[in-house]
Amino acid sequence: MTGRGLADRVIVVTGASGGQGMAEVELLAENGALVIATDLQAEGPSYSNPSVQYHQLDVTSEEQWSTLTATVAQRLAGRTLKGLVNNAGITHRTRLGETLLGDWERVLRVNVTGAMLGIQALAPLMGEGSSIVNIGSSAGLTGHYPVAYTTSKWALRGLTHVAATEYGSRGIRVNIVHPGFIETLMTAGAPEAMRGAQLDMTPLERMGSSNEVASMVAFLISDEAAYISGAEIPVDGGFTSSAGAKYMSDRIKAGRPPLPPNR
Ligand SMILES: NC(=O)c1ccc[n+]([C@@H]2O[C@H](COP(=O)([O-])OP(=O)(O)OC[C@H]3O[C@@H](n4cnc5c(N)ncnc54)[C@H](O)[C@@H]3O)[C@@H](O)[C@H]2O)c1
Repeated sequence: MTGRGLADRVIVVTGASGGQGMAEVELLAENGALVIATDLQAEGPSYSNPSVQYHQLDVTSEEQWSTLTATVAQRLAGRTLKGLVNNAGITHRTRLGETLLGDWERVLRVNVTGAMLGIQALAPLMGEGSSIVNIGSSAGLTGHYPVAYTTSKWALRGLTHVAATEYGSRGIRVNIVHPGFIETLMTAGAPEAMRGAQLDMTPLERMGSSNEVASMVAFLISDEAAYISGAEIPVDGGFTSSAGAKYMSDRIKAGRPPLPPNR
């Protein structure tokens, strides 16, 4: 996709060496942006566009954010930073009763604190027309069973609304995208039963792709979304909209007998 008018805009993307982050980097660069792609590894993958510059960044490290901020400021050479995509995230699929404190804290530190540190570090370089996109999850709109992950994505919604309120007067927009089940490394390890149930409850009856999330991110970064701030946008094939109603409707259509009592 081209024509989003991102020519020469500098945009930072976290968790950008694979999955959705990499798709976002490629699409933003294809639309003319100068992308600073970041992730945990010392070396980044090979991106197809030469305007992408890779830097190592652990989003939980305040010190590494500060180093990155200096690099970005140099690259901007007096211009404002136009975008930040807080995409880095980890999951941990344990239930409420069995989640260890260390795992709980690790997930919240990456998924929530990481995004907060990124906004704190880079918002000072932004101005009128800049855009921050946080990557939430359909888990952040529901009571999905992996408790640390779900809680972290609900918290990220709060951070999004605070930042949209805080920075609106400076012309900085802040939004959150909620992907449903997207085929990446993160979901490659999901239990088969989860995959099946997700399909049963997704009106479009398929998983999503990283490119489908990336195109929403590119839209929100661009001026086409100039009056959209504080919005929460699902990219989930209708999963959260249906909220299980598809499952009920399909069961009724198929004339399946009711479940036994107490289930
Ligand atoms: N795949 C899905 O179905 C799905 C659904 C909803 C939301 N999401 C969200 O989308 C985002 C991208 O996930 P993905 O599906 O591409 O998974 P992924 O595992 O392929 O990518 C996550 C990236 O984050 C990076 N990362 C992890 N910890 C980091 C840290 N401390 N600092 C910097 N980078 C770190 C990883 O190295 C990896 O490149 C995540 O925020 C995830 O929670 C994914």
